Amino acid sequence: MNKYINENICLTLQDSIIGMSEMEDNFFDLALCDPPYGAATYKKWSYDSDKNIEGFGGNWKINTQIWDLLKQDDSFCRTFTLLSHLKRLVKPTGSIWIHSTYHNSGFVNTCCQLLNLEIINEIVWYKRNAFPNLSARRLTASHETILWVHSGGKKREYFFNYEEVKNAKFREDNFKEPGKQLRTVWDIPNNKDKEELAFGKHPTQKPQRLIDRIMLIAAKRNGRLLVPFSGSGTEIIAGLKYNMDIVGYEINKEYFDLSINRIEHYLKSREGVLL
Ligand SMILES: C[S@@+](CC[C@H](N)C(=O)[O-])C[C@H]1O[C@@H](n2cnc3c(N)ncnc32)[C@H](O)[C@@H]1O
Repeated sequence: MNKYINENICLTLQDSIIGMSEMEDNFFDLALCDPPYGAATYKKWSYDSDKNIEGFGGNWKINTQIWDLLKQDDSFCRTFTLLSHLKRLVKPTGSIWIHSTYHNSGFVNTCCQLLNLEIINEIVWYKRNAFPNLSARRLTASHETILWVHSGGKKREYFFNYEEVKNAKFREDNFKEPGKQLRTVWDIPNNKDKEELAFGKHPTQKPQRLIDRIMLIAAKRNGRLLVPFSGSGTEIIAGLKYNMDIVGYEINKEYFDLSINRIEHYLKSREGVLL
């Protein structure tokens, strides 16, 4: 099976650039885009608890992800193509969110500006429990960047759930006070609840509460959501919570299957079948 269709989801096992090129303009209200960062190296890293780095118990292993191995010019061209499609597919009243690290954030920012996608905010996701730097030749990278952009020009009609966001209280975030505007630095530990990992591990899975926060800011209930890199399905689960029609793509069969299991479990638990 290379297509999963259920309720309001259509998830395809396919390169999203090809999938998106076949879709009609101005179809979506929101796109959540967590692309390959080009951060992988050919090296294998491992760390065991003998090293005794304070705060980092347990054993860690990082393996190169083939899908994340990108050459610089490749990464720029792919980013430009991706954002061109997103600009075409997302309505001017909607918005687009793109995750990055320093490996690709310059490309994402430059391509947005070249394509006249206005940057609404640049968010720093601060990961206070980030993985230590094993080479001891760099600082510990402990943040990722998220750009929130739109294509609506000076009218700025993109959806922003301002009041609810201002009044929200976010678990564990030391920077957000209820009743005060949400800042652009988000303090969200990069760990997942048990149920987020129940169907297998994805190496760059986002914590559900990070994506849920984006949804609170920018998702229209019953709208249409595009997820070009669905991975373990975190963004799709978030879209289901808003009863959105969701189109997703994933190129890797293992993650495609993982996300289907995760989605089905979520749908069943929502219906109360598992309660
Ligand atoms: C950064 S991860 C997304 C993780 C996701 N946010 C989550 O929480 O699980 C990127 C995913 O995109 C997939 N991928 C890479 N290139 C792709 C492409 N051209 N089309 C569709 N999926 C792709 C990878 O297999 C990987 O699972």
